[in-house]
Amino acid sequence: MEYFKLNNGMKMPMLGFGTWDVRGKDGEEVILTSFDVGYRHIDTARMYANEEIVGNAIRRSGINREDLFITTKLHSPYASYKKAKAGIEESLNKLQSDYIDLILVHEPYAQGLDMYAAMKEAYKDGKVKAIGVSNLDAGRFKEFARQCEIIPAVDQVESHVYFPQLGLKNTLNSYGTQMQGWASFTEGKRDIFAEPVLKEIGASHGKSSGQVVLRYLVQNGIGVIPKSMRKERMKENMDIFDFVLTEEECKKIEKLDEGRSLFGWY
Ligand SMILES: NC(=O)c1ccc[n+]([C@@H]2O[C@H](COP(=O)([O-])OP(=O)(O)OC[C@H]3O[C@@H](n4cnc5c(N)ncnc54)[C@H](OP(=O)(O)O)[C@@H]3O)[C@@H](O)[C@H]2O)c1
Repeated sequence: MEYFKLNNGMKMPMLGFGTWDVRGKDGEEVILTSFDVGYRHIDTARMYANEEIVGNAIRRSGINREDLFITTKLHSPYASYKKAKAGIEESLNKLQSDYIDLILVHEPYAQGLDMYAAMKEAYKDGKVKAIGVSNLDAGRFKEFARQCEIIPAVDQVESHVYFPQLGLKNTLNSYGTQMQGWASFTEGKRDIFAEPVLKEIGASHGKSSGQVVLRYLVQNGIGVIPKSMRKERMKENMDIFDFVLTEEECKKIEKLDEGRSLFGWY
């Protein structure tokens, strides 16, 4: 695994395992399988209603807690200082852990800075190791950064070949903030696996279109958290650190950028 260094010196794996829609007893087995395959970075959220199975899987895996990087997020039911403070405690309980590696304000909320105040407090108390935001575009991020005192370690946003948000990544980097992308495979909104240019580039490296997409993002300094319920795909999605895309290949992929969200966000 390769790592990004966050603005507080912490190391975050470049690739993690997304858990949207991974739920219940079967979901717990899926997370255990991801550990078995080698994932050590798990992306969960209060909204996903699965922190408890993440916690169970961590306990059952026997992996040392310090070898894992667990992200969670607080959404609108926690949109005040007091509610966010309580939400952090709930997440700690459900994850069955003394600390959370990274906690994010899930979306732009009017009370985002109040939620962040509770996160800053938990950060100072050692209950969370890094704090950040999610789904802030450049304008909102700059406004947030002007007032938040502790610059977010991460902004987790939509990022895939049709909307990589490379401009946002440069803005975030100028603040020392790491960009992490969700929906690397567009959540199925587009069939990236059939995209001719990705297939062609993949074939020349002995890699799949999915691997080319993940490699492209990581090579551009963007973290990825692909989700799959299937072991073979989990393995495939992790296997992106043994090849490098050429400048020419990156330029071809850049042409897929349509400059707008596929989800109607931002
Ligand atoms: N911060 C936010 O607001 C936000 C929003 C959305 C998502 N997220 C996070 O980002 C993570 C990733 O996004 P996502 O899960 O929504 O979408 P995604 O990773 O773009 O796509 C997941 C889909 O791709 C399929 N897939 C995975 N690997 C594949 C492969 N190698 N070949 C073919 N198909 C493959 C999966 O099917 P199978 O499971 O059947 O393999 C699943 O249907 C989420 O799980 C969540 O943790 C964050």
